[in-house]
Parts: sequence; C-alpha cells; structure tokens
Amino acid sequence: MSPDLFDSEQQFRLIVEAAPNGMLLVDESGTIVMVNASALHLFGYKRGELLGKSVEMLIPGPSRSAHQHHRAGFIKAPQIRSMGEGRELFGLRKDGSEFAVEIGLTPIQMIEGPGVVASIVDISERKRLEMQLRRTERLAELGTLASGMAHEIGTPMNVILGRAEYLLQRAADEGMKKGLATIITQVERITKVMNQLLTFARRRMPEWRAVDFGELLDDSLEMFQERIAQGRITVEKTIEPSMPLVRADRDQLIQVLINLLMNSIHAMPEGGQLRLSLDQENSHARLGVSDTGHGIPEEIRSKVFEPFFTTKDFGKGTGLGLTVVKGIIEEHGGTIAVESAIDKGTTVWVRLPLDGAQPKA
Ligand SMILES: Nc1ncnc2c1ncn2[C@@H]1O[C@H](COP(=O)(O)OP(=O)(O)OP(=O)(O)O)[C@@H](O)[C@H]1O
Ligand SMILES: [Mg+2]
Repeated sequence: MSPDLFDSEQQFRLIVEAAPNGMLLVDESGTIVMVNASALHLFGYKRGELLGKSVEMLIPGPSRSAHQHHRAGFIKAPQIRSMGEGRELFGLRKDGSEFAVEIGLTPIQMIEGPGVVASIVDISERKRLEMQLRRTERLAELGTLASGMAHEIGTPMNVILGRAEYLLQRAADEGMKKGLATIITQVERITKVMNQLLTFARRRMPEWRAVDFGELLDDSLEMFQERIAQGRITVEKTIEPSMPLVRADRDQLIQVLINLLMNSIHAMPEGGQLRLSLDQENSHARLGVSDTGHGIPEEIRSKVFEPFFTTKDFGKGTGLGLTVVKGIIEEHGGTIAVESAIDKGTTVWVRLPLDGAQPKA
C-alpha cells in the first residue's frame, strides 16, 4: 500500500504507535482511550487489557488516590507540564513490579471532551547510574578524607610510637614499663583503624593477574604461624591438586585472606581448629575458611558485612574487615557467604572466577 493511501489520522496513529516514548491518551474520567506500543512494552500489558480501563491501574497503590486528585485539577487548569514536579514517580507493571518514570502531560481537546496525552519514559537505568555515581563520589570523598587523616594522624602517631619504644627500652621501673607498653598498644590500634579505613575507602581498581590461590593461602597462613601456635589452634588445609589459577589482584586477595584468618583466630580465644579448603566448583575456585569458634548469632548474621559493624570491644575491632573482604570479592566478580552455628563455629565461603572464566559484566 502506498503512503498516500493513508489519511492524516492514520499517519498520526502510526507516528504515535512508533514513538519511542510510552504514550497514553486519557479522557476526562481517567479512562485510557489510546495506548502505543512502547507503553504496552513498558507496563507489560496487551492493548486490550488497557483500553477502556482506568489509568490508575498503572500507578502503584500509595500514589493512586493522590493521582485521582491531581487528574481532576489538571483537567480544570490544563497546561503542558511534567507530572509530579519535585517528586519521584513510579509506574506499576502488570507483574506488580515498579519502575521509575518521567511523565510529560499535554492537554488536548477531543471530540468527546478534554483529554490528556501522557508521554512516559522509563528512567530506572538513569536512576541506577546516578546512584552508582553518587556512591562512587562519596567513596572518593571518603578516600581523600581518609588519606588526609592518615597523614595528619599517622605522622604524630609514629613519633609517639618511636618515643614510647625508646623510653621502654630505657625504663627500669615496672610501673613505667607497663604504662609505656599500654601507650604502644593503643597507638597500634589507632594505626590499625586508619589502615582499615584507608583500604576501605581507597580501594583501587584491581590489577588483574592469573593468581595461584593455594600459594597465597600458604603465604597468608605463614604470617599467622606465631599466633596460631600460641593460641593453641590446629590447622587443617586441603587444597585440590592441580587447582587452576584464579583471575585476581594478588594484594587484594591477601587482604581478604588476612581478614578472614584474623576473624577465625579471634573467634577461638581458647584455641580450636582452623580448617581451610580450596577446590574447584564449575568455573569458580571455592575457598572455605572454617573455625570452631563462638559462632555468629542468627540476628547479627546479616549485619557482619556492614561497615563499622563489630561485636568486639571498643578499640579492638574496626568492623571494616568483612566490609573490605566483600567489596574486594564482589569487584572480582565473586561471591561470599557465611554459615555459622553458635558455639560450634563459622565457615566463610568465597567463590572466585577462575582465570579464563568469562568475567561477569
Ligand atoms: N569467624 C567468625 N566467628 C565469629 N564471629 C565472626 C567471625 N567473623 C566475623 N565475625 C563477626 O562479625 C563481626 C564483623 O567482622 P569484621 O571482620 O567486619 O570486623 P571485626 O573483626 O569486628 O573488626 P576488624 O576486622 O577491623 O578487626 C565481628 O565483630 C564478629 O562479631
Ligand atoms: Mg575482622
């Protein structure tokens, strides 16, 4: 059929139907008179399910009655404007899910009476990006603040530490020695908090390499040899033979292992067993760090990854250990899960993509 066979109304309908924005024509009573393909796609309905129905079915429950009210006001004083200025608007899909929308309203005069054309854009992706950007900006600010503080606080702390150690070597009096030892421990705590905060805030982009996870596990364990022996902890380690390499940032993975080992050791003040396992699970390496410590009560299990959440005494834990771990693992496209039973122990499972595995977008 040649285009000149269409009359102008048909052409107009075709244009509206093909418009990339969702478009609805609603009459004075709020009934949907026309809907285009994009709107059907956005809300997940078939045309017959919307035509003749109230437009309020596309609005989530809480805003529905307010919308009826606004609609009446708009018909009385019609003007081209965007809907819900200053408020966040949401559309309601057929499947009950909601999505952020931006809506422009244009009054029109139909033969049957006044109506409104609503032009609808799904802005959920834009919102998601905005949120991500805000979060990145916040982290960057925190990073700047933390490095500034690390310098301002770190320098005098080093001086204090140096002097205290110097005096401790010379002190003969037991009371004096004890006092100086306390100063040293406290300064070390402050330094630890600063370092954790720095790692948390200044997490750089990972430097990807093919990494031997088992070797890293050995290296990290090595650092704790002394504490493990003193703490009457036995270690059992099983690494699957010919374990493939993982795609990871070496330093960041060591940080992960240190934080997890530290938590397990802390959880077993009376000693116990530390079990480490590494094996392959499909396209992932699976690390298990298991202890026979005090366990994590059910009600706080969901909080352990939150920044600054700690059950340790004031000054003993920063509550950033697991936050850092989770951040790093997720940046690696991996996952982390915790299993725990009170007084029996805790197992943390880390899954990391193997080198050559398709990284998650
Ligand atoms: N293996 C574990 N056994 C029992 N509880 C644990 C274990 N690992 C973590 N937790 C709980 O989760 C909390 C948060 O752990 P996270 O490592 O984030 O901080 P933290 O250990 O308290 O402080 P930091 O790591 O800075 O020393 C801990 O305070 C503890 O209550
Ligand atoms: Mg910790």
